[in-house]
Amino acid sequence: MMKYDYGNGENENWIVAEEVFSTKHLGKAESILSLGNGYMGLRSVTEESYLNEQRNLLVNGTFNNFSEEEVPELPNIADITNIDFKIDGERFSLEFGETKKYIRYLNLKEAELVREIDWVSPDQKQLSFKFRRFVSLEDLHLIGLQIEVTNKGEQVDISFESGIDAQLTNTGSQHFHEGEKRIYDKKFLESIQTTTESNIDIVVLTAHDLKVNNESLFIEPKMEIARRKMTVNYDLTLNQGDSLVIDKTSMVYTSRDNEWEGESYSLSEMRKLALSNLKANSEKGYDANFNEHKKAWETKVWNAYNFRLKTDQSFDLLASRFAIYHLTVMVPAHSDKMGIGAKALSGEGYRGHSFWDTEIFILPFFTFFNPEIAKSLLKYRYHGLIGAKQKALDNDYQGAMYPWEAAYPSDGEVTPVWGAVDIVTGEQTKIWSGFIEQHITADIAFAVYQYYSATGDEAFMNQYGYEIIFETAKFWSSRLEWNDEKKLYEINGVIGPDEYKEHINNNAFTNYMAHFNLSLAIEYHDSLQANNEDLLSELNERTSITAAMDDLKTAKEKLYLPKPDKESLVIPQDDTYLLKKEIDLSKYKNADTVGKLFDDYNLDQVNQMQISKQADVLVLLYLMDQTHHEMSKELKQANFDYYEPRTTHDSSLSLSTHAIIASDIKNKTLAYDLYSKAIQIDLGPNMLSSDPGVHAASIGGIWQIILFGFAGVRVKNTKLTVNPSLPEEWNELGFVFQWKNKAVQIDITKSEFTVTPLDNQQITFECEGKTYTSNEAITI
Ligand code: BGC
Repeated sequence: MMKYDYGNGENENWIVAEEVFSTKHLGKAESILSLGNGYMGLRSVTEESYLNEQRNLLVNGTFNNFSEEEVPELPNIADITNIDFKIDGERFSLEFGETKKYIRYLNLKEAELVREIDWVSPDQKQLSFKFRRFVSLEDLHLIGLQIEVTNKGEQVDISFESGIDAQLTNTGSQHFHEGEKRIYDKKFLESIQTTTESNIDIVVLTAHDLKVNNESLFIEPKMEIARRKMTVNYDLTLNQGDSLVIDKTSMVYTSRDNEWEGESYSLSEMRKLALSNLKANSEKGYDANFNEHKKAWETKVWNAYNFRLKTDQSFDLLASRFAIYHLTVMVPAHSDKMGIGAKALSGEGYRGHSFWDTEIFILPFFTFFNPEIAKSLLKYRYHGLIGAKQKALDNDYQGAMYPWEAAYPSDGEVTPVWGAVDIVTGEQTKIWSGFIEQHITADIAFAVYQYYSATGDEAFMNQYGYEIIFETAKFWSSRLEWNDEKKLYEINGVIGPDEYKEHINNNAFTNYMAHFNLSLAIEYHDSLQANNEDLLSELNERTSITAAMDDLKTAKEKLYLPKPDKESLVIPQDDTYLLKKEIDLSKYKNADTVGKLFDDYNLDQVNQMQISKQADVLVLLYLMDQTHHEMSKELKQANFDYYEPRTTHDSSLSLSTHAIIASDIKNKTLAYDLYSKAIQIDLGPNMLSSDPGVHAASIGGIWQIILFGFAGVRVKNTKLTVNPSLPEEWNELGFVFQWKNKAVQIDITKSEFTVTPLDNQQITFECEGKTYTSNEAITI
């Protein structure tokens, strides 16, 4: 059972806790309490093992393809968290004896996982344990772990076995060759793993430092090296009241680290670096390392974003901080060769692959709060142009056709082809997204537009942005299909955002987004032609965009855009959606878990019904609203009213968009209600939904609701608009965001809001059609 109000005093609304340990629900805490720093993610599995635990240490960018029939995935690297204790020969496990006190919590402010236990062994030995853990934001290679064991009863012999375990697999796929293992000075354990196909070296090291009653203790461990595993065993005796503190310091390095980029890589150099850093950090010890990590969180995150919320709904504050916490631990701020997986680095779900989740749901947070990171994520897509161009070529298209699922930039399309069981035929269902879910290409172009509008970052555009826009537009112009009857271009046989509709024609979202992508390329091209011919000719060398212009212009003019119905204002999701049969969805919408529909129907049957897995037309309205298109309140209302009852929200990406549109149509109660559901996706009572990992896009979505919905801070036709719509349940909301390289503070109360350009730099924004410019605070 999770507990969300455990923190008090200065920790109030900073603590996500688990107050009852149950082996039935291991996955929930493992995922939502997971640690990380964007370089690596460590699932919060307990030190002692339990059946069905999912021990994961994932390092971003280390993709490997186990076999040709599979797709690249982030391999599960060697574990350093498993530590087994024996008390007078009996194994410490919460499945035996009596647990008198149990609490496990993640302190979001300090990014530390803590577990406190009072335990009486079946033999009546009384001990208390305090486990602490962090993955450093200061030194991206460092994992700190500390265990304090206090003997509360009579004298006991205590032993523990700890080390590095490289026997883990990804559900059976072993991604590593058996590598070299070594123990230096009976203390420093070193494991080298090399991925079987991508040839990435991974060095994991660990060391133990012991203290009894605050005095350092040097005892010789019993050492063992076995197949893919090495351990040290320590034996000691604790008298009544004695306390043993074990600091386990671990370091992780890979040949994909920035250090080796452009440098000649050498495994022996990496081993030297890793070992000397391990020695230094083990010498410093847990507390000193942890303090540096804590400081990094304070300055890089909490002080920088300066998020404040006053509300009686304290869970809302916790959930907003939870989202910032996970956005920080998931993002590879250190490397522009890496993306964000759909389950971040908190589990093996979706194999670490990046989807449109990043550009549409996660990246906007960084665009507004930490543009340097947003730029890095967009550069990841720039590097991905290689794979995207290859995918276009393979499909006889031009330009860049981005993969639906992406791994390392050069990997191209990595969506698996076979998925879950078809309950009717018993066969595996074919996953079509990798072939026909094509909107991702325009979604990436949209993210570039949003980033450029918010930052004015010309240097990024010149080096990367224009090329992405031009290559993606070239793809669309080659992708369209001419309908001779209608004398229009169409986009047929696709999947839109709503994945319950496959092989559909003219998905409104896809068509409008492709149209936007084409328009953007034309606008940027023409503007460069008028203002920066040198840059354009450079870009022409890479993209031949000027030669493609006629095609792009015709494509844009003649592309069919499904219009809202004149009476109802409903935009058809695709050519046939509105003609399909309707069923009562309440059973599925009110179900405890998602995807219940598939207990009764298979995908082919769902395809024939007006059922949407997730926001589709509504995402379109929300995105188009940020461009030059005016999306009226009436249009949003009509489409919200039509699609909301038909949407099961089986995808965690869905609720945030519905909440923002509800906010736009000034239905504060509904917006807040949808927001309240969205924050329950990972937090909340469902103990199984996060098993494969956290829902990264939904976590980004929480901040989209706050930023774009409640605070109403948005790009509108390249300009900044501020139009708050604070829920009745909230009294005050404030944070610092970035606009055109300037830090801007916003403070919203129930009756007014104040925009303050920090450093007195001039800021211009619109609110309800009126433009405000000032270098001082403006209150409206
Ligand atoms: C959703 C997609 C999403 C993917 C990864 C799917 O269930 O339908 O929109 O990109 O999950 O989160």
